[in-house]
Amino acid sequence: MSDHYRIYLEEDQIPTKWYNVRADMPEQHDPLLSPATGEPVTVEDLKPVFCEELAKQELDTTTRHFDIPKPVQEFYKIFRPSPLIRAYNLEKALQTPAKIYYKFEGNNTSGSHKLNSAAAQVHYAKEQGLTSLTTETGAGQWGTALSMAAAFFEMDLTVYMVRGSAEQKPYRKAVIETFGADIIPSPSETTEVGRAILKEHPNTSGSLGCAISEAVEQAVSTPNCRYVLGSVLNQVLLHQSIIGLESKAAMDSIDEYPDIVIGCAGGGSNLGGLISAYMQDTLKGSSDTRFVAVEPASCPSLTRGRYEYDFCDTGKITPLARMYTLGSQFMPSADHAGGLRYHGMSPILSKLYDDGYVEAVSVHQTKVFEAAVLFAKQETILPAPESAHAIRTAIDEALKCKKTGEEKTILFGLTGTGYFDMQAYSSYLAGEMTDYIPSDAELEAGFAQLPNVEAIRSSK
Ligand SMILES: Cc1ncc(COP(=O)(O)O)c(C=O)c1O
Repeated sequence: MSDHYRIYLEEDQIPTKWYNVRADMPEQHDPLLSPATGEPVTVEDLKPVFCEELAKQELDTTTRHFDIPKPVQEFYKIFRPSPLIRAYNLEKALQTPAKIYYKFEGNNTSGSHKLNSAAAQVHYAKEQGLTSLTTETGAGQWGTALSMAAAFFEMDLTVYMVRGSAEQKPYRKAVIETFGADIIPSPSETTEVGRAILKEHPNTSGSLGCAISEAVEQAVSTPNCRYVLGSVLNQVLLHQSIIGLESKAAMDSIDEYPDIVIGCAGGGSNLGGLISAYMQDTLKGSSDTRFVAVEPASCPSLTRGRYEYDFCDTGKITPLARMYTLGSQFMPSADHAGGLRYHGMSPILSKLYDDGYVEAVSVHQTKVFEAAVLFAKQETILPAPESAHAIRTAIDEALKCKKTGEEKTILFGLTGTGYFDMQAYSSYLAGEMTDYIPSDAELEAGFAQLPNVEAIRSSK
């Protein structure tokens, strides 16, 4: 047993391969379908949108490990290994017998785990000889990470940022511009799909789904340009597996194994990455760790969504994925965790959830900020609102242990820092924060717009 607060691996212990959990899943998620034909997509179909290597990774269900390219390994050394931290102070404050660990991914200038996949995606685009990329960003974390990676690998980048977030966080925009990327609040007048959305919802604060549509449209209509996505996709979960691989190596080094692994879930990339190495043990039957996805009550795709084929974007131009979804037309309320306001969920996580390997809870944002403030005071890291969802549930699990006296080992993902989210903190501290929960009728309106795959197939 260790009494260290921070467990750092050595630089030469940074994993050199990513782990593809699909290779160990007893059943695969249903295939991505073409929105035009309703038939499964191929690498060829994806190539106009994604760079080729990423398209291959997206559809590869059998390769268990992928070599991390050398330039990406070198880039990772700038900010990895990330620390695994024992939350002794939080444990003391809660008077819990539980042991709480967190993997801190906010230890880089971009402030979140998103840099793990950003570096990989920009590298592959560069290697293919592309000259520019487009993307969307919700909270701004992905856009920031990608702008850093794009600057490093010398690639042009346009970021469509969800309008509500862009307005709440002007300095996030300034950081992205500092790294040389163009940033456009979405929905915008720069794309056909943006203009159509604005016509229907002139006052919308936007959503990740809208921003994705705009970024994809821009990519396919610009020569030598591709689109990159910061979450949801299988390739992104693959890159984020480094979080779980490092966590496991660090916990192994102090002879610890988690009873519960907890992560916030927006599109599912950090959670998918954090649980990956432990999920491998579970899938092989050698452990019974609980995996918990935490989502906002305002955007409850796992806990109140449907497991159906849906578009990944609002403009209905992306492939159809079978996932837990609130419907691509669902416009979440203006929650302060912008990175969790996505209508769907990673197909891999959706499948693991549907098959009973992953649990899900939804939490109210005032309770999330209560947890964020307690955590900040005890652990001295100001968490991102998204990450604070995982903190909330980790605290709740630790308090259950206090009642039962169980000494459970809890691991959660602290995905990022919240220094650009001070408007949200101020609103919470002023007692002005509210909890918006969508009604069943609002959710039904989203479900009513789900695509009919049979109709698409028969109309081709
Ligand atoms: C700090 C942080 N954590 C978590 C998320 C949620 O994304 P994902 O579910 O892909 O990890 C985001 C998304 O923007 C984020 O910025």
